[in-house]
Amino acid sequence: MSIDRKAILPGSTIGVLGSGQLGRMFAMAARRMGYRVHTFSPDEDTPTGQVADVEVTAPYDDLDAVRKFASSVSVVTFEFENVPGETAAAAACCAPVRPSGDVLHITQHRLREKTFLAKAGLPVTAFRRVMSVSELAEAARQIGLPAILKSAGFGYDGKGQARIYSPADFESAWQAVGETEAVLEAFVDFEREISVVAARSLDGQFTHYGAVENRHENGILDISIAPAGVPEQVVQNAVEIAREILEKLDVTGVLCVEFFLDKNGRLLVNELAPRPHNSGHFTFDANITSQFEQQLRTVCGLPLGSVVQLTPAAMANLLGDLWQDGEPDWAAATAVADVKLHLYGKSIARPGRKMGHLTALARTTEQALADVQRARRKLTADSCGTKTVPR
Ligand SMILES: Nc1ncnc2c1ncn2[C@@H]1O[C@H](COP(=O)(O)OP(=O)(O)O)[C@@H](O)[C@H]1O
Ligand SMILES: [Mg+2]
Repeated sequence: MSIDRKAILPGSTIGVLGSGQLGRMFAMAARRMGYRVHTFSPDEDTPTGQVADVEVTAPYDDLDAVRKFASSVSVVTFEFENVPGETAAAAACCAPVRPSGDVLHITQHRLREKTFLAKAGLPVTAFRRVMSVSELAEAARQIGLPAILKSAGFGYDGKGQARIYSPADFESAWQAVGETEAVLEAFVDFEREISVVAARSLDGQFTHYGAVENRHENGILDISIAPAGVPEQVVQNAVEIAREILEKLDVTGVLCVEFFLDKNGRLLVNELAPRPHNSGHFTFDANITSQFEQQLRTVCGLPLGSVVQLTPAAMANLLGDLWQDGEPDWAAATAVADVKLHLYGKSIARPGRKMGHLTALARTTEQALADVQRARRKLTADSCGTKTVPR
């Protein structure tokens, strides 16, 4: 069957569950191609809502509102994987949901996700399900320390995680994850972290943006470098793992696979995100087709776009911490000519909150990294180039 016959064409309306920056950049890509965008979330004046044609504000468990929302669009996608399963199921009554509720169900829960990966024979960090402090002690005996305890659901940006170095940490770690279903994971002394953002079309075509190197600070992505400076064989292995995951999950859409690369050059899958990913933000400026346009194309049943990267790139996140001494110096940062500024329209800058990012495009990844870091430093430096002293 030709893919064209199923295509949802420009002029149609796309529904987005969730309303953060991923939905905002999706909406920008969609509106550029003549689509209308409706967004649904419990919040108002959201990063996505500011760009969408219609912003619906209702709780995710207001299933009547979800059904009404889905009836007003041609297809529903999501930008946030913690949308409850019932919400996706309710939306599915009135419009196709892509990726499917099944993909959401597996990837929004660490235990289900890791079990799926392990059963598929894919390499994952050793893990155990933990339901109490005593189970935590037993799991730690089996896995060894140090280890990381992560809540099974609702984790992002390092939230819902606690590192455990000795049995003295068991009690506080259990409290830190909210005394709820959790996963204990062996600590990986990795060489690097990389990710592969990949996409799969309605008719099963696969494409990817190669391997990106990711550097985290306090469990939050800080810098991404594309392409990652890892051996070609590592890139190929990572891409093959990503391909297998998208096929086994039968994904229609974009999905990111985060990996640890250990000191022996072995890859371990850390986690999956069934949507565009922070480590793929550089594609907005550096690639023929961004991850957001690719999401649009896949959920609409259009052919995949070219993923060719036109220039090496580096991305630096802008967290709310940068606002602690007042508004960052945007003019200074934009003076670095090869750097693009992205801000998400969030009015409250909390520490650790993703407020925007910078992407540098240069002839080499080293240059792009240096430029993006220089531009970010300029945001909080005074005119002499020294860091402003907190008031
Ligand atoms: N098992 C681990 N070993 C070493 N570092 C880890 C481990 N798990 C997580 N981390 C670090 O914390 C970061 C965030 O953890 P992750 O599981 O990806 O959660 P999130 O959903 O918050 O992104 C990882 O990218 C990595 O830097
Ligand atoms: Mg992660």
